[in-house]
Amino acid sequence: MTPTTLSMTTHIHPHATLPRHAKEVLLQQKGCVLWFCGLSGSGKSTIAGALEQVLHDKGRFVVRLDGDNLRTGLNNNLGFSDEDRLENVRRTAELAKVLASNGVIVLCSLITPRGVLRDLARGILGRDFSEVYVKANYATCEARDPKGLYAKAANGEVKQFTGRDSAFEEPQEPDLVLDTEQLSVEDSVFEVLEYLRAKAIAP
Ligand code: PPS
Repeated sequence: MTPTTLSMTTHIHPHATLPRHAKEVLLQQKGCVLWFCGLSGSGKSTIAGALEQVLHDKGRFVVRLDGDNLRTGLNNNLGFSDEDRLENVRRTAELAKVLASNGVIVLCSLITPRGVLRDLARGILGRDFSEVYVKANYATCEARDPKGLYAKAANGEVKQFTGRDSAFEEPQEPDLVLDTEQLSVEDSVFEVLEYLRAKAIAP
């Protein structure tokens, strides 16, 4: 991989686009990025999917960026080394930035296992970024094992598995915590809607 710190922007001259405000007026919403992080099987995609439906039904324009989905296209050359996870997060955050700056409510669901990765996303997205920690511990996710990945990691079929042989650092200061060992999907969606209301993003 090309080192992500290497800037290639010399002799590049970005073009102005229609202002963000014009898009937000058109869509009658504020662009933002909700970044759902947490272990595989914690509930990130399930909650983001349910939230997408609820917001859509309320007339909001929402785009989901899901780790699994992006890894079939934009990020299909990336694996699960620390370096590849960093590039995965960087590309996703840059894409989310384009969308949010065009008035879109963006729901990103990526494990984002380390503080440095979440800091990278926050640095790219600035005030648009909200970190939502979808909290469930390894044993719980292993018991759920919706894709059979925990079993495969245990028998060595899946390497660099998050929380097993690749570190997961708990978020220290997330904007919102959804404890999915306690909350139903509906409860979690309600919590996010309350958060969006409080921030006047999607009243
Ligand atoms: S990361 O760490 O943010 O770059 O990961 P992400 O892009 O979210 O991709 C996680 C999904 O990839 C599948 N998968 C694995 N996850 C973790 N570790 C390993 N080794 C691995 N191999 C494949 C898995 O379906 C993850 O999806 P979720 O939704 O988290 O279960």
